[in-house]
Amino acid sequence: MTSPDPTTTRNATIATSEAQVVLETYKKWPISLVEGKGSWVTDADGRRFLDLYGGHCVSILGHAHPRWIRALSEQAGKISFYSAVAHHPARAHAARLLLEEAPTDMSRIFFSNSGAEANECALKMARKHTGREKVVTFEGSFHGRTLGALSATGNTRYHKNVRPLVPGHTYLPFDDLPALDRIDKNTALVLVEPIQSMAGMRTPSLEWFQALRDACDANGALLGFDEVQTGMGRTGTFYASTWTGASPDLITLSKGIASGYPAAATLLSEKIVSSVEIGDQGSTFGGGPLACVMIATTIETLREEGLIERARILQKKFQTMADRFSWIHEVRGRGLLLGLKIDGDARRLVSHLFEKNILAGASDDPSVLRLMPPLVLQDQDLQTLENALNDFTP
Ligand SMILES: Cc1ncc(COP(=O)(O)O)c(C=O)c1O
Repeated sequence: MTSPDPTTTRNATIATSEAQVVLETYKKWPISLVEGKGSWVTDADGRRFLDLYGGHCVSILGHAHPRWIRALSEQAGKISFYSAVAHHPARAHAARLLLEEAPTDMSRIFFSNSGAEANECALKMARKHTGREKVVTFEGSFHGRTLGALSATGNTRYHKNVRPLVPGHTYLPFDDLPALDRIDKNTALVLVEPIQSMAGMRTPSLEWFQALRDACDANGALLGFDEVQTGMGRTGTFYASTWTGASPDLITLSKGIASGYPAAATLLSEKIVSSVEIGDQGSTFGGGPLACVMIATTIETLREEGLIERARILQKKFQTMADRFSWIHEVRGRGLLLGLKIDGDARRLVSHLFEKNILAGASDDPSVLRLMPPLVLQDQDLQTLENALNDFTP
């Protein structure tokens, strides 16, 4: 990616200023994004980008959705925050909407603020409910950066320099039927991403999901779905759990849950809820009025604008477009959580697209480019992508 000329651009001035005071832990794009509308964002120098990265898989309704802005400002003018020590009507409303869409007997929700926290809650609840310690996750998985969620993360790249990890974690090969024999009577929780996005949009077979459910049932282990990326309609159904056919006992959500307002949720089935007591979990900011209003607004907008169906339609359009390029071997994933498996280096393609004013993501698989655009993506945006791909030599 071409870096901006540090002497002339506002982007560069902002980047330099940030680097002086903010801890640098990200490999950053050389731009400062200051505005957004729908699937497009604008940098500090006025350059517009098509956002196929979706603000990090977050902006499910797109940027600056009028309904989202209205809900945020109206609620902020009433009461922006009080912790869950007091009731607020938006909390039950948001929870009901999330539960209405849930495929199984999910009966309660714990609200928090980030994907890692939602997974921490899942880990704690599962250990308490089963009285067991062992947590099974999968090679290549990502569950967050807190020490507990990191210990559940099967991509060992993230384990460097932070050991010792929380004990009790076992990582099995993903989408591997024989390996499920290692789920046993000591297993509290099997936590799985329905699609391993960061690993390169790896999507297991439906047969494997069923075997996973069966292995958990046979051993009294809980099955948890980390739907931090796959949830909120992104994969063409509200929860990915629906198309996997394997009803989980718990689901974690964040990223798109409030389309950019920080929030997260852990959905728990009735059997887990029965073992929870006052004081078992807490979060100062989790489930605040503003967060809950934004969750509810996101769900209502997804429904009223038919955006989940739109994700399914757009998946087909992406596939049709990809078929026109001999060097794109496969479109992985579902809905608008897609990976293009290409000839050659996907990072080169990410850089090429950036030069063409399109934001996309790389993955841990060097041949897979990740696309996770807002669900309000327009047909002409696909044409913009296709034009840029036409100019690429793999
Ligand atoms: C599948 C999955 N789980 C959990 C997380 C952690 O979410 P957060 O960064 O909000 O803590 C991520 C973040 O990328 C994720 O992709």
